[in-house]
Amino acid sequence: MEDSEILDQRPCFHSPEPEATRRYGEGLARVWREMNAPGPGGLVVSLRGDLGAGKTVFVKGLARGLGIDESLVSSPTFVLANQYASPGEGLSLHHVDFYRLESPDELESMGFFDLIAPRAILAVEWGPKFPGELPSDRLELELEADGGSRLLRAEARGPEAARILAGWSASLAE
Ligand SMILES: Nc1ncnc2c1ncn2[C@@H]1O[C@H](COP(=O)(O)OP(=O)(O)O)[C@@H](O)[C@H]1O
Ligand SMILES: [Mg+2]
Repeated sequence: MEDSEILDQRPCFHSPEPEATRRYGEGLARVWREMNAPGPGGLVVSLRGDLGAGKTVFVKGLARGLGIDESLVSSPTFVLANQYASPGEGLSLHHVDFYRLESPDELESMGFFDLIAPRAILAVEWGPKFPGELPSDRLELELEADGGSRLLRAEARGPEAARILAGWSASLAE
């Protein structure tokens, strides 16, 4: 049915509290690790949502899912980009925030394009600001405040992102 196809492609998750948002991120990172064994191809997650929507909280969850200490993850608003190595498996989390960038011309000099790497998750806060600079195969995640809770809407752009999103959705339904 047409409707359910659209729902499949754009699943919506409800998060009643920050810990739930972290667990969504954790689950996505775990699924990415598991679905790509033995060697993950990179995953790019573009995060959209107002200030305070929970983008950085979600990225802390991604860190947790890669075995990285989530307390190390802070907003890269001022430093532009952070990189965290996952212990053991040679995976890493790269975290960028486009919020303070004025032009996509700044991306080259900050080394942004090197952060799109085969064994890394690249999370980009305010990714939709420069959508043309992101790989076409990526996951788009929108966070929307709904009173005290949050709605997360996920959308795959491209076949690899669709595969990971399907796995993530399935894991959440378990
Ligand atoms: N369900 C929720 N999910 C995520 N954050 C939440 C939630 N409910 C409340 N919050 C709060 O909202 C804020 C989100 O901050 P942050 O992740 O830094 O936002 P952003 O990076 O989108 O600007 C945090 O203070 C967090 O505690
Ligand atoms: Mg943030």
